[in-house]
Amino acid sequence: MCGIVGILSNNEVTPTILKVLKKLEYRGYDSAGIATIFNNKIKRQRAKGKIENLIKQIHRNDLPGNIGIGHTRWATHGVPSKDNAHPHQKGSVVGVHNGIIENFRELKEELLIKGYQFSSETDTEVIVQLCSYYIDQGISNKDAFLKTIDRLEGAFALCFMFDDDDKNLFISKRGAPLVIGFGKNEVYIGSDAVSLTSLIESVIFLDENDWAIVSKNEILIFDQKGNKVQRQKKIVELNNDIISKGNYHHFMLKEIHEQPEVFGYATSGFIDYKLQKINMLNEVKELHGINKIILVGCGTAYYACAVAKYWLEKFVKISVEIDVASEFRYRETYFTKKEYAIFVSQSGETADTLAALRKAKGKVKKIISIVNVTESSIARESDFVLPIKAGPEIGVASTKAFTNQLAVLACLTIKFANIKGLLSDKKNSELIDSLISIPGVISDILSNSKKFQDFAKKLVLSSNVLFLGRGILYPLALEAALKLKEISYIHAEGYPSGELKHGPIALIDSNMPVICFAPYNELFEKTISNVEEVLARNGNILLITDEEGFDLLPTNQFPVIKLPKISNFIQPIIYAIPSQLIAYYTGLYKGTDIDQPRNLAKSVTVE
Ligand code: AGP
Repeated sequence: MCGIVGILSNNEVTPTILKVLKKLEYRGYDSAGIATIFNNKIKRQRAKGKIENLIKQIHRNDLPGNIGIGHTRWATHGVPSKDNAHPHQKGSVVGVHNGIIENFRELKEELLIKGYQFSSETDTEVIVQLCSYYIDQGISNKDAFLKTIDRLEGAFALCFMFDDDDKNLFISKRGAPLVIGFGKNEVYIGSDAVSLTSLIESVIFLDENDWAIVSKNEILIFDQKGNKVQRQKKIVELNNDIISKGNYHHFMLKEIHEQPEVFGYATSGFIDYKLQKINMLNEVKELHGINKIILVGCGTAYYACAVAKYWLEKFVKISVEIDVASEFRYRETYFTKKEYAIFVSQSGETADTLAALRKAKGKVKKIISIVNVTESSIARESDFVLPIKAGPEIGVASTKAFTNQLAVLACLTIKFANIKGLLSDKKNSELIDSLISIPGVISDILSNSKKFQDFAKKLVLSSNVLFLGRGILYPLALEAALKLKEISYIHAEGYPSGELKHGPIALIDSNMPVICFAPYNELFEKTISNVEEVLARNGNILLITDEEGFDLLPTNQFPVIKLPKISNFIQPIIYAIPSQLIAYYTGLYKGTDIDQPRNLAKSVTVE
C-alpha cells in the first residue's frame, strides 16, 4: 500500500520526511520520492527501489524548504520506475496519491486531446495534470484542487502543493486513510498516525470525502459539498491500538472502511489495466488435463469458496467441489490427479485448512493457496500462492479479507475462462471493468451506512434471525449469518430462499427478522415469491436490493434498503458490505466485545 507524508515546519523538512518514509516502509513499496517548495520553485527527487536509493540521490541542499511532501509507492498502474514514482508534477502543481482512480483513462484521454503530454503510466499523474489544467484556466489553487477531486472516481488520498504557495498543503480523503498530525512546531499529513507517532501530540482523523487546506496556523476542513466542517482533534496516546484504530471505535469498523482501498490492491496485483488481462498463474498455459477444481476453507473463507463455485461453473465450465476443511480432511475423497485444489485462508495458519492441504498434496495436480499472509504455513506448502493484499486484519470477524479473497477468486475465474477461450474480448473487459468499479461502489455504500445502523437497532432485541439468498447470493446469506452470530451472539441462520418451504418456514412469525439479499438478477422474481411466502405468515422482512429490483417489487409493506445497481458478477462482493455493517452495528448496540468476541480466536491454529 502506498504511503503519504506532508510537513509544514519552521525548519527544513526533508530530513523529517525521509524519517517518516522509513516508517511507512511497512506498507510495502517499490519506489519513493520527495518534493519541497522553495523560493516559489518546486524541488523534486524520486528513486526506484528502497529509500536508501532516494537518500543517495539527494545531495545536502537539493531539497530546501519548510514545506514538503513525500511518498512510498506500491505500484498499481505502471511498473515500478523513477518516472512512475511520486510526487508527480505538472507546471505549478505537485502531488502524491494513495489509492486507485477508476476513471483515469477517460480523464487522460480528455487531457491528451487538449494537448497535455504524459511522462508516466500512473493514474496519479492524471490527477496532477488535471489540476494543472484548471490552474491554466486561470482559477485559484483551491478551486482547481476542488474541481479536480470532484472529477475523480474511485478510492484515494491526496496531498498537493502549488509552487506559488509555500504555506499550504491541499489534501483529500475518499476511501483511503489520511490524517492530520500536530507536533510542537509542525503540522503533518500522513497515511496513518502510526508512522507519525514519535512526532505528533494530537491528531485529526479525516472523515470520508473530507478535503482540507492545511497551514501551520490554520486547518480548513470541508465536506464533499464544500461546507466547512469541524473534526475532533484527538490527543495521541502512545498506545498503538488507539492510533492504529484511527477514527474508528473498533478495528472491525476500520477494516470495513479500508475495503475501498485494499480491494484495489488485491485486483491491481493481478489486473493489467492497459491490456485488460489478468496476470496470475502465468505458468498455467492450458487446463485440458484438469477435470475439477476443489475449493476448501473454514468459516468466512469457506463462504468465499462457495461464491467462487458459482463463478467457476458459469465462466470456466468446470466441475467444482467445495468443502469446509474440517470435513474435507477426513472424508474418503476420491482424487484423480486431474484437480486443482485451492485453499483459502486469511491467516494461512488455520489447522484444519493446513491439514486439508497436506491431505491433497501429491494427490491433485496443483495446490493453490489464497492467503493474506504470504509467509504462512499454508502458503509455504502450496505450489502457487495468490496474495489477497488486505493488510493486517486485526478484528476477529473477517471483513476486508473476505472481499479481497473474492477479488482474487474473481480474477482467477477470468484467468481460467480466458485460458479455455471461453470469454469474448467484450465479456472479458466487462468483467474486469466491474471489478475495477468496486472500490467506488463500496465507498458509496459506506458513506450511507446510517440505514444499516437504524436497522441494527431493531435487530438488537431479536433472539433468532434468518438470512435468505438465492444462487450466488446464497453463500452471502451464510456469511451474513456468521457475521451476526459471531459479533452480536444472536442466533442466525443463512438459507437458500427456495428451501424455506421445506421446513424453516415453520419458524416464521412476527418475531423472526428475515433479511433477504435480492439484487435484480435472473432469480429475482423467484426470490420475491419466497419473500411473499414469509409475508403471508406475518414475517418480518428486510429486503436488500437495487433500483431495478425496487421498481419491480409487488408491494412495499416492508423496509427495503437499495444498493447501487451493479453487474451480477460482482453482486456477492458488494452485498457483503451490508452484512458486515448490520453485524457491526448490532454488536455495537448490544455492547459485545466486537474486536474480540467471546470464545473466538483470530486464527484457529488448533483442531
Ligand atoms: C470469520 O469472520 C471468522 N473469524 C472465521 O470464520 C474465519 O473466517 C475462519 O476461522 C478461517 O480463518 P482463516 O481465513 O484465517 O483460515
